[in-house]
Amino acid sequence: MTLETVIPSLRSTLYQHVDPAAWPLTTAPAPGGDLAVGGVGLAELAARFGTPATVLDLDDVAARLRGYRTALPDADVAYAGKALLCAGLVSLLVEAGVRLDVCSGGELALALRAGMPAERIVVHGNAPTEAELDAAVRAGVGRVVVDSLDVADRLAAVASRRRTVVDVLLRVAPGVDAGGHPAIRTGGDDQKFGVPLTGGRAAAVAGAIVGRRALRLVGLHCHLGSQIADTTMWERAVDPLLDLTAELPGGLTELNLGGGHAVTGGTPFDLAGFARRVTGAIARGCTARGLAPLRLGVEPGRAIVASAGVTLYRVQATKCAGSGRWFVAVDGGMGDNPRVALYGAAYDAHLVGRTTCAAWRPATVVGRYCEAGDVLARDVALPEDVTVGDVVAVPGTGAYHHAMASSYNMVGRPPLVGVRDGVARVLVRRETTADLLARDCCLPHSAPDEGRWDDDAWCGGVVLGRD
Ligand code: LLP
Repeated sequence: MTLETVIPSLRSTLYQHVDPAAWPLTTAPAPGGDLAVGGVGLAELAARFGTPATVLDLDDVAARLRGYRTALPDADVAYAGKALLCAGLVSLLVEAGVRLDVCSGGELALALRAGMPAERIVVHGNAPTEAELDAAVRAGVGRVVVDSLDVADRLAAVASRRRTVVDVLLRVAPGVDAGGHPAIRTGGDDQKFGVPLTGGRAAAVAGAIVGRRALRLVGLHCHLGSQIADTTMWERAVDPLLDLTAELPGGLTELNLGGGHAVTGGTPFDLAGFARRVTGAIARGCTARGLAPLRLGVEPGRAIVASAGVTLYRVQATKCAGSGRWFVAVDGGMGDNPRVALYGAAYDAHLVGRTTCAAWRPATVVGRYCEAGDVLARDVALPEDVTVGDVVAVPGTGAYHHAMASSYNMVGRPPLVGVRDGVARVLVRRETTADLLARDCCLPHSAPDEGRWDDDAWCGGVVLGRD
């Protein structure tokens, strides 16, 4: 039973504000006013693993990966690991036969250690360090996406030293400005990513890459931004990218249109429409320019994991402000969800784990951090008897939450708990106060640090080994 099938009853009783699209696919009502995800009650999870805790519906992730494979059977689908990355997730990616984008030595080390074959890893970055480039080359990753002439030159030097040739994509800024917030728009001309098509700059860098013996240019890449709901946006990038492909010496086989597929509450991203539009535009554009068909690449991050995640908090205090606003303060906040403060993102919040007949009351759910901007969900409806000890669940927290969490105020980051078929398993454990104290070298009995920077630390030298 999925939430879609039970939603009429949820709406008529306790969960009248539940939006099924915002919850994991396996969400179902559970006894005592609870909701279950992956067959496990949320209140039970809160009791067992503590709060705050992020629960990840593994069936939901697997279903979304299958959805991409089905909608785009001939494309290279690479999951963008920056949205959420842990070994438990990498096994799902391996099972689904998708690739993995990484954007740092840390993500690369995790990917390799978790069993992602190196040839299925795509490395990104506008400012990779020497050690990160070297780790990628040593591991033998499938693709490196080059973001500037400097990075191309530095990668070529590393690859020559290692006596190898690296397959690269050139990231281009196609001048298509799209995305849900200025901070996550990356296709326009006035931002740091990609080489602009304007003024022949991308053509010049592509030409330079073709001239480097240690690099093989296999295609062009763009990532327009994040939270893009309008599927015509990617089509707009296709023609300019194909024009450039046609200008370059033959041999390019790929066109990567990045990620950015929106996850916005009740409106699902039109994946079938996206697939139809972009594959059609590429096929028509290649024919018109006499190019051999190019293989499409896509890099969804948020669309794979966002709605699989639910974060559980426990209420610590409630109060009414002078303005009349009712605040419900919980034990998490901007440390585990900085997205409200950063992008003004909107979330819902629900009481779980008990029934109530109380009336609904507008509430602002706030966190425990020392900033007035530490808000989790603004003006949501909660039963007016919500009180200390209650569990509040916030859905839609799978992407860019765990990944962007901090230990601000010396509060450890929450655990990530995977659920599937009635079984819950910790994927990433809670960060404890002991973890936080362990880094402070001036505490009595702390381990000394010589203060020497080991370059390999960027890339988990332990994982990759040294030569
Ligand atoms: N490919 C590249 C090159 C990217 O930079 C990104 C995201 C993606 C793919 C995946 O985008 P997605 O499908 O997840 O939208 N912290 C922000 C999002 C930043 C996205 C950065 N790049 C947020 O919380 O909304």
